[in-house]
Amino acid sequence: MAEIDLQNVQKRFGDFTAVRESSFTIRDGEFFVLLGPSGCGKTTTLRMIAGLELPTEGKILLDGEDVTYKRASQRDIGFVFQLFALYPRMTVRENIAFPLKCQSVQRAETKRRDLLERSVSGLSGGDSQRVALGRALVRRAKACMMDEPLGALDAEFRHLMCVELHALHDRIRATTVYVTHDQTEAMAMADRIAVMNHGVVVQIGSPQDIYDRPSAMHVAGFIGSPPMNFLRFKSSLAQGQRSVQLNGAAIRVPTLRQAVAEGELALGVRPEHVTISDAGEIRGEVFGVEYMGTMQIVTVNTKHGQLKARIPSRQRVQVREAVGLNFDSERLVVFDAVSGSALKSRLFEESADG
Ligand SMILES: Nc1ncnc2c1ncn2[C@@H]1O[C@H](COP(=O)(O)OP(=O)(O)O)[C@@H](O)[C@H]1O
Ligand SMILES: [Mg+2]
Repeated sequence: MAEIDLQNVQKRFGDFTAVRESSFTIRDGEFFVLLGPSGCGKTTTLRMIAGLELPTEGKILLDGEDVTYKRASQRDIGFVFQLFALYPRMTVRENIAFPLKCQSVQRAETKRRDLLERSVSGLSGGDSQRVALGRALVRRAKACMMDEPLGALDAEFRHLMCVELHALHDRIRATTVYVTHDQTEAMAMADRIAVMNHGVVVQIGSPQDIYDRPSAMHVAGFIGSPPMNFLRFKSSLAQGQRSVQLNGAAIRVPTLRQAVAEGELALGVRPEHVTISDAGEIRGEVFGVEYMGTMQIVTVNTKHGQLKARIPSRQRVQVREAVGLNFDSERLVVFDAVSGSALKSRLFEESADG
């Protein structure tokens, strides 16, 4: 078990900076997810933690010990690429043993003797996943790095393995750093998520923190399906203000704790915090309706941009119908649309984590 501490870690490839001044601590026993779009620096960060890549600047500490210049083999960190990749011509025993030491197999052997001598090509999909996972975990390394391990699986199987990985982590509590570009995976498994963009860690927090209190438009727009809506408007705002003006309509928001000079702003609204009624503050026209069982996603065109509302299916809504929109005022986030940062407000004072 281990705590992992990154201090101002930076990685340049030539004059391209893949990871910028990253500083964060992964707690002992935590399931920590690096989440972000392809190319944002997730794998590079993971490889630096594992010792497969040297940072250009900064320090990496493992349980307080500076390991920045230690080789991967001296760090005792396990690394899993794609879970599905077993060696098809080998038995289960050989798959677990390769590239590990035999002592690990003995440990596994006491549990699954029946399975060990079978060829992996005859295993069900679920069992081959378990073998691949076992191979990564029997070593009991200090920490386990996983780089998009479920990437090659179809959606249904991926969900199954998410649940299994989560249960396994609950049992053995090994410090785990898990890389994915899939927000659903991240939300389902993480104790905490670090959301990355262009080599920068934009926000770190529990899944709920990241979802409810996004610190930037990038985070808000990356998480949630559909993600957070942004209604664009121009205004200046005073500290202590409790509403914003959109086209003459006053929309209540959590009390603002900072002022902004006249500029481009965006009101962030989650689809489930929108209600559609005749007496709505903002007017719009229904563009599309997606039926999803108990809920439906209604797309509405407004003067401030397109917005998606998640509302109960029993409410009748017609395409091209003129509608009014109301928002859950306690849950709104105002963003500076130029920098992308969320404005400080009462909402962020409820934060439970990082
Ligand atoms: N060895 C390398 N040489 C040059 N550029 C690299 C190298 N490895 C990664 N990069 C670049 O660094 C950026 C981040 O890559 P990576 O960490 O693999 O992103 P992610 O895992 O988030 O998709 C990408 O633009 C990638 O092209
Ligand atoms: Mg990657």
